[in-house]
Amino acid sequence: MDTKTMCNWENKTEEELLAFVDEVIDDYQKDEKNLIQILHMAQAAYGYLPIELQEHIADRMDIPLSKVSGVVSFYTLFSKEKKGKYVIKICLGTACYVRGGKKIIARMKEVLGIDVGETSEDGRYSLEITRCIGACGLAPAMAINERVFMQVKADKLLDILDDLE
Ligand code: FES
Repeated sequence: MDTKTMCNWENKTEEELLAFVDEVIDDYQKDEKNLIQILHMAQAAYGYLPIELQEHIADRMDIPLSKVSGVVSFYTLFSKEKKGKYVIKICLGTACYVRGGKKIIARMKEVLGIDVGETSEDGRYSLEITRCIGACGLAPAMAINERVFMQVKADKLLDILDDLE
C-alpha cells in the first residue's frame, strides 16, 4: 500500500476512499479477526464510520452487518458520527479531576456552546472527555487532535482555540 495515498484524506474522492478501504480489506485477506484493524484504517480515511460504510465493509468481508456494527458500537475509539475539525478531549482522570478538570469542561461547554459528545454546527469542534493522557504531573490537561495542553486554565481556553488556526 502506498503510504502517500494514505495521508492526504481531505483531497480524496468518495471512490478513492472506498478503493482504499477495499484495498485494506483485501490486504487483511477479508479475515474477521482483523476487523478492528480494518475499521481503524477505514475511520482514519473517512474520519468516522457511517452505517453505509459499515454495510460496505460487511459486504466485502462477507460477514453480517451486525458483526461490524457490534464492534463499532462496543469500542469508544470508533465513531458513527462525523467529528469536528478539532476534537477536544478534556481529561477527567484522577489528577486532572482533582486539579480542576470539571471547571475546564464547564468553561469549554460555555465557550463552544455544545455539550460533551457533541460537534459544533459549523463542524469545527467536537468535545469529549478522556481518561489520563499521560500529563498528570501538569494537570489539568486536555488534547486537541494530536496536541496536548497542560496546566490548562479555564480563562485561557478562548486564547487556545484562537491559536489553533
Ligand atoms: S489524569 Fe489527566 S493527564 Fe493523567
